[in-house]
Amino acid sequence: MSPIPPLPFLLLFLLVSAISAASHEDATRRTMEEFSGYPIHSHPSVLSLSPSSLSVDAVGLQRQIDELAAFSDTPKPSVTRILYSEKDVLARSYIKSLMKEAALSVREDAVGNIFGRWNGYEAGLPAVATGSHIDAIPFSGKYDGVVGVLGALEAINTLKRSNFQPRRSLEVIMFTSEEPTRFGISCLGSRLLAGSEAATDALKQAVDGQNISFFDAAKSAGYNICQEDLPNVSLTKESYSAFLELHIEQGPILEEEGVSIGIVTAIAAPASIKVDFEGNGGHAGAVLMPARNDAGLAAAELALAVEKHVLASGSIDTVGTVGILELHPGAINSIPSRSHLEIDTRDIDEKRRNTVIEKIQHSASKIATDRGVKLSQFTVVNQDPPALCDESIIDAMEAASRQLNLSHKLMISRAYHDSLFMARISPMGMIFIPCYKGYSHKPEEYASMEDIANGVKVLALTLAKLSLD
Ligand code: GLV
Ligand code: MN
Ligand code: MN
Repeated sequence: MSPIPPLPFLLLFLLVSAISAASHEDATRRTMEEFSGYPIHSHPSVLSLSPSSLSVDAVGLQRQIDELAAFSDTPKPSVTRILYSEKDVLARSYIKSLMKEAALSVREDAVGNIFGRWNGYEAGLPAVATGSHIDAIPFSGKYDGVVGVLGALEAINTLKRSNFQPRRSLEVIMFTSEEPTRFGISCLGSRLLAGSEAATDALKQAVDGQNISFFDAAKSAGYNICQEDLPNVSLTKESYSAFLELHIEQGPILEEEGVSIGIVTAIAAPASIKVDFEGNGGHAGAVLMPARNDAGLAAAELALAVEKHVLASGSIDTVGTVGILELHPGAINSIPSRSHLEIDTRDIDEKRRNTVIEKIQHSASKIATDRGVKLSQFTVVNQDPPALCDESIIDAMEAASRQLNLSHKLMISRAYHDSLFMARISPMGMIFIPCYKGYSHKPEEYASMEDIANGVKVLALTLAKLSLD
């Protein structure tokens, strides 16, 4: 049975009804039925949208997840799909073909964000969008991001099978390069959609580990763009009335507590830093210890300093990771003459996260002085604020979970997502589903078909509600 809708929903419903009553009788009727949970008139498109009529093709969705996972540069069960690689291009074609199969109108922007739109009967209104990414860090799993893209397409197909007619258009987005693997910039596509000038500037200089520029890499994938094209990727705040992302939790809470749906209230603030030290190097046997300025040891000391500063924050929410540590020349009998570190640090509290960054910078300078090496780079690549999810979208996701009789809880996202940037141009919400032991960014990542189907249903019902707003 349907619960009583929360107050903001009732107010919103009354407002929407009042505004649209005169000219959009149909829309009002659909809205009333959506919010009440009961059919008020016998309009077939609404009758068929009772939660029990939402039939997700979980088997087909799992098959698509497996098919997409095959576009990988490493053997299964791992998945490695790096921006603009051959496998990424094949995976993109696969997504576009599924969008076309779903009869969506497909467009792609200059950097390869892919949009599939189902036109609503008031197509001039800002659309409701949903999506995620399909790029995968080296040796990761097949669910991160993918569930939010293929799951979004399945949510649309589910709504279509229910004969639902959206008022606002519904749009599925596959974002380019949520992972920072190739050019060190996370959420590349969504940052640009949100109009980030810092990202536009950073891309002008960006090169990958093979010294290939962003523009050459894009060209090799069929995106023939130049610097001037980047600002055109941005979207206005009128583009979407809401953005939703379905994602595996990437943490253990939902599974441990036996809860089906996580409703995200906020996304933690991520930052990343690049550091280079330079010493003199030399022969590992001949140069005596007092005469050394070892860039490798400077890096090692900084890695430990990162851990120390993070722990000193006193909060379990502060985290820091040195995920990349490279030594040059990388020979056993040569003292490292150069070292390169990439540091990821996050917190739900932006100020506390910024304090950690300051302390890391102070340590880097001090270590360089003490060890007689040069700190040749300390670049804060990104220092993003946290994002809050929109209250009315949270209410809509909670209402959908209740209607579907799915246990749910409010939670924060410690991982970042394209939603962090979509929140800059649209009210935003995120739906989490449990994943095995909270594993993510490794091949053991797993979400059950049942949990994925539950997430798709909550997504479908929430999209339907929001499309009628
Ligand atoms: C996203 O992949 C993250 O690192 O949070
Ligand atoms: Mn990821
Ligand atoms: Mn992800």
